[in-house]
Amino acid sequence: MTEKARRVVIVGAGAMGKAWIDTVVRRTDLEIVGLVDIAADAARAAALERGLEVATFGSVDDALAALDVDLVVNVTIPQAHLEVSAAALRAGVPVLSEKPVTPTVAEALLLSAVSASTATLMATSQSRRHSRGIRAFRDALADLGGAEQLDVRFFQNPRFGGFRDEMPSPLLVDMAIHQFDQARYLLSSEPVSVYCEEFSPRWSWYRGAAAAEAIFRFADGGRFSYSGSWCADGLTTSWNGDWRGSTARGSAAWDGETDVVVQSRDGGPRTCTLMDGAEGLDAALAEFVDALDGGPAPSGEITRNIGSLAMVEAAVASAAAGAPVRFDDLFERASARAEELARVGGFDDVVGQLGSAPTRGDVRS
Ligand SMILES: NC(=O)c1ccc[n+]([C@@H]2O[C@H](COP(=O)([O-])OP(=O)(O)OC[C@H]3O[C@@H](n4cnc5c(N)ncnc54)[C@H](O)[C@@H]3O)[C@@H](O)[C@H]2O)c1
Repeated sequence: MTEKARRVVIVGAGAMGKAWIDTVVRRTDLEIVGLVDIAADAARAAALERGLEVATFGSVDDALAALDVDLVVNVTIPQAHLEVSAAALRAGVPVLSEKPVTPTVAEALLLSAVSASTATLMATSQSRRHSRGIRAFRDALADLGGAEQLDVRFFQNPRFGGFRDEMPSPLLVDMAIHQFDQARYLLSSEPVSVYCEEFSPRWSWYRGAAAAEAIFRFADGGRFSYSGSWCADGLTTSWNGDWRGSTARGSAAWDGETDVVVQSRDGGPRTCTLMDGAEGLDAALAEFVDALDGGPAPSGEITRNIGSLAMVEAAVASAAAGAPVRFDDLFERASARAEELARVGGFDDVVGQLGSAPTRGDVRS
């Protein structure tokens, strides 16, 4: 550990919080100084389990008041993301948050305004855009001239129990953001409209709709189609999904786990070599720390990440309406809602800033 190690507080000591403890501990330039969880003893139990001798707290405010903190990792439940991240930003502490950055686009616009007004970095970890496989797949598509038709099939059958079995739209709201974010990464473009149907296969064990079919149109004319189910027994795909992209000069496919296969118009199929590099949480954290060191903004920086959250919200809205949804309309409604939330939710100081919060045109993949 060097003298310059950044002091990290992890908020949320559940399953994913422990994965983040392990990720931070792997870096010698970071030092965990505190764990926070609203549930009595959860933070202490996690510290004990991971052999960490650090202070534990019941709220992020208490931790920020007691400690000198350089970085907060927010691994709470989605409903707590806005409150926890905003508290840290207001204290001038950069935040790396688990996905989704907030449950809604309106709340994300609000949080983005807090990040801008405090000039403090706010980013999301979208761990599935960081893998050797997806990087090779993206490069293969780009080498062939870029995909105009991209599709993914995501078929899994987890028996989680708990909140996912009870919530509305479990597949679209809790999982599909990963594939939607991957599509933005692969196409390097932004969605402009979506038509989506979500439904419950008759054998589904979820209360909410656990299957969906969606077609997104992107600004550069590309189409992305998503076909998914969380109650598909047999022949399951990988958790990244099974991908195929078609370009003017050929096609590429990635099973989400192992090989990327490419075939150009004139050649036979060939397997791409995967290049080494950080993956998953390690890669998301590396990007974030690089940005703190003066490097480029991370790919999960809040204004860049909002497009992935918007894909979830637009797909759910389209399914509810039984009609296509335009992203311009969604962002207009979300901006109005963000202003309302700012007025009633103790964010009066950023109401003026919301006019300059990211709009459709600012969102980048
Ligand atoms: N990237 C991935 O692949 C992936 C996988 C699983 C979960 N996640 C995300 O990680 C986050 C956490 O998921 P999880 O599975 O660890 O959930 P979890 O329920 O196991 O843990 C969340 C913890 O946050 C605590 N908490 C809630 N409100 C709080 C508050 N205001 N302050 C402090 N602590 C609070 C809870 O008590 C709980 O211990 C979610 O946003 C989820 O979507 C991401």
